[in-house]
Amino acid sequence: MMQPTPRIHTREDHPDFVDLDWVIPITEWTTDRLVEMPTGIHRHAVVFVAYQDGIYAIKELPTKFATHEFDVLRAMEGRSRHTAIAVGHVQRAWLDPHDEWSGAVITRYVDHAFTYRSLITGGGFGTRRDALLDALAGLLVELHLQGMFWGDCSLSNSLYRWDASSIDAIMIDAETSRIYDMLTSGQRREDLEIMTLNLAGEMADIAAQHGISLDDADMDLGDEITTRYHRLWKELTTSLIVTAGDHYRIRQRINRLHDLGFAVEDIDLIPVDDGMNVKIRVRVGGRQYHSERLREITGIDISENQARVILSDLAYQEAKFGGASGTGKDIAAMKWRSNILEPLILEIVRLIPEADPYQAYCDYLGFRLATATERGEDVPNAEAFTAWIELGFPGLMETPTAT
Ligand SMILES: Nc1ncnc2c1ncn2[C@@H]1O[C@H](COP(=O)(O)OP(=O)(O)OP(=O)(O)O)[C@@H](O)[C@H]1O
Ligand SMILES: [Mg+2]
Repeated sequence: MMQPTPRIHTREDHPDFVDLDWVIPITEWTTDRLVEMPTGIHRHAVVFVAYQDGIYAIKELPTKFATHEFDVLRAMEGRSRHTAIAVGHVQRAWLDPHDEWSGAVITRYVDHAFTYRSLITGGGFGTRRDALLDALAGLLVELHLQGMFWGDCSLSNSLYRWDASSIDAIMIDAETSRIYDMLTSGQRREDLEIMTLNLAGEMADIAAQHGISLDDADMDLGDEITTRYHRLWKELTTSLIVTAGDHYRIRQRINRLHDLGFAVEDIDLIPVDDGMNVKIRVRVGGRQYHSERLREITGIDISENQARVILSDLAYQEAKFGGASGTGKDIAAMKWRSNILEPLILEIVRLIPEADPYQAYCDYLGFRLATATERGEDVPNAEAFTAWIELGFPGLMETPTAT
């Protein structure tokens, strides 16, 4: 009998995955490419495979769901940097398409990410709780602004990364998601209700695992995320009415959105009250304002708050070493990149290869600032960096590896 052949759809700049044994279920694979990675709770079979340029997650599920998940994640690319990157999908056409292993979806493993389980201490999220709430509220707002109805927001369906002093959440499971031009408030409410229900279930499980009674479990996460969600949504979407001529108010509004990390795509200035006032209506883009700016200047692609911190380091160095004029600024940025940032990043990779190097750089900047504050004067990089190494990298946020 002829060997059945899978249909494989992949994207450019990624492996073609043809070397994998698609004829058998992924759980039966024995390939050397398999790597163990911590996962959240999941129903479908998931494996991780390592290639030269990185690790990929492969999830097996019925064909229809696999292609749907691929399509949704693919469509989100360019809209948000907080969804998993869809790399391919596979169809085993010789099987019934409803068969659990008839299809598979391949996503790029999210580097330096960890599951919510690594954040749990003593049955709750401890000091990380606040950052986690902001991360999930921010993620839902961003996805909703981009027209995505998630349909299954939960702790397990997201992954987490340190992002300077905050946490970045990334949606990885889009099986139930749909994309619209715009969500209705009913759809947004429904998504928040699903999230609240999912989180209550997950927190009840965590409590049970830690021998905590349900009465003492942290069951308010969903409601608190909802409150933060509404606050942020309102701030991002409310139109502002200002006196015509008060141009600085327009700048102020845009700066505020940038401070929240959101890029601004379109601005409408609509005269109201017979032209006495102007209504400022802004279309907000993804939560990637600083990461895009840093990428434009340096080509470095990192998360939003890491980029914010690193850009402020650039601004500080510029102020110190000149660069007021346009060209002066460009030259100062180039000098900063090749004389300061790159050598220090290389040194970090050499000394702490398992760490996220840009997170470690942010942690180092935190140390330099604390040292300077203590002394009441600037501390040169050479001196501060040596001290940071000698003291064993104080403040370093290590990527948790526990499952
Ligand atoms: N791109 C990825 N990078 C890192 N880890 C991933 C990735 N995709 C999936 N995982 C891990 O695998 C687990 C299961 O993935 P996922 O949630 O997509 O499957 P599932 O739970 O079986 O699907 P569903 O929730 O629809 O039943 C996740 O909790 C996560 O830990
Ligand atoms: Mg899942």
